[in-house]
Amino acid sequence: MLYDRAGFEREGRVNEQFRYSGDPADLSALFPGTQGRTYLSTCTRGLLPVPARAALDVHLDGLENGTTDKDALFSCIDRTRASFARMIRCDTDEVAFTKNVSEGLNIIAASIDWQPGDNVVVCLDVEHPNNVYPWLNLRERMGVDVRSVPQREGHVDAQSLIDAMDGRTRLVTLPTVSFSPGFRADVATVGNVCRDRGVFLLADAVQSAGILDTDVGALKVDGLAVSTQKGLCGLYGMGFLYCRRAWAERMTPAYLARFGVDLGDAHEAAFGSDNYTLMPAARRFDLGNYNYPGAVVAEQSLAILNGIGTRTIEAHVLCLAKRLIDGVLALGLAVPGGEAGAHTSSIVSIGKVGSGGHDTSDDPMVTSLSAHLSEHDVVHTIRRGMVRLALHIYNTEDDIDRVLEVAKTWSAKNAPN
Ligand SMILES: Cc1ncc(COP(=O)(O)O)c(C=O)c1O
Repeated sequence: MLYDRAGFEREGRVNEQFRYSGDPADLSALFPGTQGRTYLSTCTRGLLPVPARAALDVHLDGLENGTTDKDALFSCIDRTRASFARMIRCDTDEVAFTKNVSEGLNIIAASIDWQPGDNVVVCLDVEHPNNVYPWLNLRERMGVDVRSVPQREGHVDAQSLIDAMDGRTRLVTLPTVSFSPGFRADVATVGNVCRDRGVFLLADAVQSAGILDTDVGALKVDGLAVSTQKGLCGLYGMGFLYCRRAWAERMTPAYLARFGVDLGDAHEAAFGSDNYTLMPAARRFDLGNYNYPGAVVAEQSLAILNGIGTRTIEAHVLCLAKRLIDGVLALGLAVPGGEAGAHTSSIVSIGKVGSGGHDTSDDPMVTSLSAHLSEHDVVHTIRRGMVRLALHIYNTEDDIDRVLEVAKTWSAKNAPN
């Protein structure tokens, strides 16, 4: 058993060893945050699995005792990079280490050779602010035209993005899944057009990574940024940036340090010469020392998620999402997007699109339902005026039935007939 520190130390890393038995009790032991309440808030923070915590403790012990082995940390970086690459089906060197989504998006924004009159196409209404400001900043600094298309009832409309492109479009950006209301975007449709026209397609995938099966080749994205604190069940301050080799190797990083330069097996602090070669693909975007605690944790979490398999995770989560949507609709409550369909992700919102501020609602029914859910230990959020519930592999049918039961008792007293 790897579910406590002793087990972790006895059996070594989870890496390559974790095999999901299919028994939810295993997952409940792996993710103790699921116990004693209904945790439906992976869209803010995923739960840390026990082996990740154990690995972090071992790492901190090394720092406290002065026994840290730097080569072992570099090996951990290599394994973690390879593991994320396996998850999204790209080459290992197409993955850079970042600190979050924002840094990944900004690395791409800063590394394109913008020319006057170039434009970026985006749906600002639906984006998280961290995929808004990089483009507004580019407009201020470089005069890049930021073309925002309107949302369609909470959806990022693929055809609207395509229609807004012209011969001066250099980059299109979209979220694979929006943070609110949580709709899945039709990335591949946009990706096919971008690929044909040589336009960079950049995805913010933080709300889908580790939860929905992701194949960057099939989606035809050129860049994809994530942070590890949500579906990847890791720490804040750690992220990954995928950049497709064909693009990355045409890009000059805006920031450069030792790890972005190819010096073969030379020491980490060695200087080669002022005539240098950039690292292959996305590795040129790596900067100085890594977030080792974040990587030590991500290695374990990725091993667990890859061990289960993202196809299995996606199937599980979409099945739960459908059960939840059907149950909420049966109570007569509004679910943006209606019945489950191609737009469905791991996030289910309750309420109406456009009914509130960032974490408040103008709809008293939403505020009241949210308070009732909290009173009954259903961990959730309000986003853009709606109750937001989010699922991962550690959620179960029992969680869904419980939240529906709690919503039913609220509905019996409060909902309109
Ligand atoms: C869609 C989306 N993008 C980005 C972020 C956060 O960005 P970062 O990782 O840079 O903090 C969030 C949530 O925190 C999000 O939901």
